[in-house]
Amino acid sequence: MPFVWGRPSAREQEELAAAMVRFWDYLRAFVAERIAAPRDDLTSALLALRDGGGRVFTLDEIRSVLFAFLTAGHETTSSLLANGVRRLLEHPSAWRELRDDPGLVEGAVEEILRFDTSVVGWRRRTLRDVEIGGVPVPAGEQVLMLLGAANRDPGAFDDPEVFDIRRANASDHVSFGRGVHFCIGAPLARLEARTVLRVLTRRLPDARLVPGQDHGFVPNVAFRAPRRLLVEWGSGQRA
Ligand code: HEM
Repeated sequence: MPFVWGRPSAREQEELAAAMVRFWDYLRAFVAERIAAPRDDLTSALLALRDGGGRVFTLDEIRSVLFAFLTAGHETTSSLLANGVRRLLEHPSAWRELRDDPGLVEGAVEEILRFDTSVVGWRRRTLRDVEIGGVPVPAGEQVLMLLGAANRDPGAFDDPEVFDIRRANASDHVSFGRGVHFCIGAPLARLEARTVLRVLTRRLPDARLVPGQDHGFVPNVAFRAPRRLLVEWGSGQRA
C-alpha cells in the first residue's frame, strides 16, 4: 500500500534505511547486555521466559517486541500530547476548566483521542471474503481502516465535529483499535496524557497558541500530529 508512511525521496529512503539498521544494531547490543547482566526490566523478563530451544521466544522475537514497544509507544503518545495541547488551547475555556477541575482530565483525554487520534489510519489484509458497509471485499485484499473517520461517525457520536471535553461517550472511540490487537500501551498512554495535562494546566494556566503559526502535519495517512506547535505563556515565554 503506497504512501501510507509518506513519500520519502530515494535519498531519504536510503537515510531512513540506514537509521533503521542502526536502531536494530542498538537493540542487538541492548539485548546482549541484558543476557550478560539481567536487571529488573522487561527485556530481562522476556529473556528469562525462553525455553532454550527457540520455541518460546527467539532472540529476534525479543528484539522485535522491544522494537514494537519503542516505536508504537513513542510517536503515538507524543502526538497525543501535541494534538491535545493544540485542541485545548484552541478552546481556551476547556484549558481553564481543566485547570479549575482536574477531575475533568480523564474525559478530556478520551475526547482528544476521539477528536484527533494520533493513529488515523491502520492496515489490514482480509483473510476471507467479507462485506464492509455494503461493499464486498474479497479475501487477500489490503484494507486501510480510517480510525479517525470512525471516531467522527455521526451514527456513534452526537455533533461529532464538536470538541467537547464533557462528552459522555467519548471513550467509545476506536483510537486504540479493537479486538485481539487492541493497543497494549493504552493504559500507559492514558496515564501519561492525564499526568501531563494536569501538570501543564496547573503550571501554565495562561498558556496560549502563538498566533499566526503554521504547524503543518506529518505527511502520511497513518499518523496525525502537528510537525511543531508553538505555545507561549506569561509575558511571552515560548516553547
Ligand atoms: C496515544 C497513544 C497510542 C495510540 C493512539 C495507539 C494506537 C494503537 C492502535 C490503533 C493499535 C492497534 C493496531 C492494530 O489493530 O493492528 C495499537 C497496537 C499496539 N500498541 Fe499502541 N497506541 C498508543 C500508545 C502505545 C504505547 C504507549 C505503547 C507501548 C508502550 C503501544 C504499544 C502497542 C503495541 C505493542 C501494539 C500491538 C498490539 C498487538 O498487535 O497485539 N501503544 N496501538
